[in-house]
Amino acid sequence: MKKVIAATTVVSALFVATAFGHGGATGVVKERMDLMGNLKSAIKILVPMMKGDQEYDIEKVITQSKIIQENSGIHMTKGFPKDSIHGPSEAKEEIWSNWDDFQKIANDLNKLAIGLEKAAANPFHKKGQMMNNSSMMGQSMMQMGQGNMADNMNLDDMPLDQMPPNGVFKMITQNCSACHTKYRIEN
Ligand code: HEC
Repeated sequence: MKKVIAATTVVSALFVATAFGHGGATGVVKERMDLMGNLKSAIKILVPMMKGDQEYDIEKVITQSKIIQENSGIHMTKGFPKDSIHGPSEAKEEIWSNWDDFQKIANDLNKLAIGLEKAAANPFHKKGQMMNNSSMMGQSMMQMGQGNMADNMNLDDMPLDQMPPNGVFKMITQNCSACHTKYRIEN
């Protein structure tokens, strides 16, 4: 009898660990939270380099761009099957009533990350400096980025590969926020 109880305790302990691991998320919700976590880690590595607080390393930027690519677009949207809100999920129902828009933002992130990979070796955009055409373009791109570019920009028309990497990076962080503002419950 004792043995049975002990075994039951172990099983339920295991169950609790699975059910409440990662804030209680399971299944597809946990998977997409992990995917978002990968994105967060990539951004965390890139921020100090993009801000100039840490030495800029082209190879590191390329590696993180690839991680963002692998966690965006279809890789991201497949983590959101219809009406999959359960447990601690912060996803909004609007995702599925605006699926095309949601998908576009996820695909834009993928395009931006490809853009960052290609732009990784470009010179930086410096504030208030317009030395040549390419940095001037960076400037106007940055200004365009101030608006809600995620909504009304076609990234295919943008020469991301010619932009300063910190300009493309800024668009990436704006993309994350644009989607979260619309489709993630703030807490
Ligand atoms: C197309 C929409 C979309 C894009 C783009 C997006 N996210 Fe998210 N993100 C979400 C949604 C929706 C959730 C909530 C998921 C849930 O709780 O079920 C979320 C949740 C998260 C979380 C919390 C995960 C957890 O453990 O609860 C983090 C961190 C995160 N996103 C980071 C990022 C970063 C960084 C980027 C940009 C590089 C990004 N996201 C881009 C939609 C998006």
